[in-house]
Amino acid sequence: MLQQEWWRGAAIYQVYIRSFADGDGDGTGDLAGVRAKLPYLADLGIDAIWFNPWYPSPMDDGGYDVADYRDIEPAFGSLAEAEKLIEEAHNHDIKIIIDIVPNHCSDVHPWFAAALAAGPDSLERERFWFRRGRGEHGELPPNNWRSRFGGPAWTRVTEPDGTPGEWFLHLYSSRQPDLNWTNPEVHEEFEDILRFWFNRGVDGFRIDVADGLVKADGLPDVEDAEGGPVPYSDLDGVHEIYRTWRRIADGYPDKRVFVGEMWLPDPLRFAMYLRRDELHSAFNFDFLSCPWDAGRLREVITATLAAHAPVDAPATWVLSNHDVTRHVTRYGRADTSFSFADRQHLAPTDPVLGTRRARAAALLTMALPGGVYVYQGEELGLSEVEDLPDAVRQDPVFKRTAGADIGRDGCRVPLPWSGDAAPYGFSNNGTAPWLPQPAGWAAFTVEAQTDDPGSMLELYRRALRLRSANPALGDGRMTWLPDLPAGVLGFDRDLGFTCVVNLSPDPVELPAPDQVLLSSQPLEGSLLPPDTTVWLRT
Ligand code: GLC
Repeated sequence: MLQQEWWRGAAIYQVYIRSFADGDGDGTGDLAGVRAKLPYLADLGIDAIWFNPWYPSPMDDGGYDVADYRDIEPAFGSLAEAEKLIEEAHNHDIKIIIDIVPNHCSDVHPWFAAALAAGPDSLERERFWFRRGRGEHGELPPNNWRSRFGGPAWTRVTEPDGTPGEWFLHLYSSRQPDLNWTNPEVHEEFEDILRFWFNRGVDGFRIDVADGLVKADGLPDVEDAEGGPVPYSDLDGVHEIYRTWRRIADGYPDKRVFVGEMWLPDPLRFAMYLRRDELHSAFNFDFLSCPWDAGRLREVITATLAAHAPVDAPATWVLSNHDVTRHVTRYGRADTSFSFADRQHLAPTDPVLGTRRARAAALLTMALPGGVYVYQGEELGLSEVEDLPDAVRQDPVFKRTAGADIGRDGCRVPLPWSGDAAPYGFSNNGTAPWLPQPAGWAAFTVEAQTDDPGSMLELYRRALRLRSANPALGDGRMTWLPDLPAGVLGFDRDLGFTCVVNLSPDPVELPAPDQVLLSSQPLEGSLLPPDTTVWLRT
């Protein structure tokens, strides 16, 4: 693989720093913890790490409320330590992708503090979306937009003279004011932030809410049509921003890359972000949201590849991340799809079935053409922690919906590394972690799973190693196998590799039973059992 094209087929491991490993013993994960676990990640066989935001933050939204884009959250470490981490990761041949949050910042960011202090009609307020309210006394929000975390997308401020004043826009929590991308100063600031981190060796950025930066002129009300276009997502003007960013990345000799976070209904609109002079790749949420159903998966995979082909961008395959219900839990339910509208909190789930399907899904994703993401803990087969006490929940989604949406804390519980009881080696001095871990995690630790041939961890290790050693996998093409029984997916990759997934309730005959490279469950002679994936050399 050409060095500058590493990202086209990469296996990228997502680190939610707060919950990965705690190096300084305060119950919160940190960069020291990550540095100590780099050998673990290298051994797992991944090509890159994507870090969720590591910047100073009040942590109203787990760090997606950034107070300073050019430093490290003190609870995580320091800038000097981040530089060491980048260097050490590179020594292990692991690339570093960091999160950039351009749609909004924290309410304690100096720009927002200055905007509040400066008052209406000031240049300081022009960096955000301040508007007078509707109604006789400006007591109603300027338009009908809703926050994605629940409640109105506008909050009214008290002016420096103590009177009730203007409103500011926040598509997320009221502590995350939206930045105004019609202001050239905002463009310059983010271009400089990109260079700041590129100059420190980061290999790429994951762009938070990549579709959201541009708002429709005049901030018109959202019209009622369910699922229709909204005046704050996927406006054409956003592409010009990424063209500029791409030129900055391409200015570095060893090409730096972007991966976009866009939840868009239309695969063709999605692919526009992946044109040659824009982003390199983006998360495939259609695949993540898809139920465990052969027909639906085939449709999504086909549509994904068809949308990516004209722009020559690699697809990505994602099963879980820090925003969604862990897939072991999803796949054990009657309804195996994912939707933000209904997390199916506490809907009955069968963890044995969910785990079996998660194993099959892991081999499916790693065999598909393009890049693959692994969210920390999925390699351990962790379930969503659905029974957290309300008092410990931190997600603003939970708070802003008064618990109607349980939020995302359940997929952010600190990882179990070793031992029989909490904190399972998360903090080496035994401090209680920032979110409590379940009592039953002793069997899920890295220590317990290592060298157990039936464990999820060993399946991931073998699969990731085979994947990086096998030139048929990663970037490239695939061809569906014809004439398979109902409920069975099968495809060839170039260079003699075949993947077959049995989603039907019955065992099926394997096309080439003597050529097995890896299977997610033991085979039954020449039969592929239900909810099982096999990799074959053909
Ligand atoms: C993205 C992040 C999510 C965050 C939101 C607001 O969707 O993945 O965690 O809450 O943006 O920044």
